[in-house]
Amino acid sequence: MADEKTTASDEQLNDPSRREFFMKLGLGSLGIAAAGTAAFSYQYLEPNVLYEPSPVINAGKPDRYPLDSVTLDVNNGIFIVHSQEGYFSLSAVCTHLGCLTAWKQELGIIACPCHGSKFEENGKKIEGPAPRPLPWKRIWLNDDGDLLVDRSTDVPPLARDSFVRV
Ligand code: FES
Repeated sequence: MADEKTTASDEQLNDPSRREFFMKLGLGSLGIAAAGTAAFSYQYLEPNVLYEPSPVINAGKPDRYPLDSVTLDVNNGIFIVHSQEGYFSLSAVCTHLGCLTAWKQELGIIACPCHGSKFEENGKKIEGPAPRPLPWKRIWLNDDGDLLVDRSTDVPPLARDSFVRV
């Protein structure tokens, strides 16, 4: 009887189709594990960099901005102001909770639509919950005569170097 069991078990182990099946299963598992390891290794070795647009934007030729104008660049969240002293740039993002402000030509002010903060055209706060004035941004002319603005760099308001004079 015992011999019969041993013989049956041996036959099962020696069954080529059964052995082949387990071999393929094992190799498949190894393949999946290797692919997973390779994917994680690639993610680990790849630089963890966030690709964001450059903070420097080209605002075009100065003659696009008439004297005594305040122009909102909606896409970049800045104002280009052409004043008697020259060109300067302000952030158009309200210092209260970050809404985009707008120039109100009829009132001669910059206004925030969210909670009513108001600013002069030089960014100075007039009223409202905004805790700070609108920051001035670095502006300069490139070799082609275009105005460039660095949205990531604040400059002192009304300072001589904060203007571009053409
Ligand atoms: S976000 Fe501008 S006043 Fe609140």
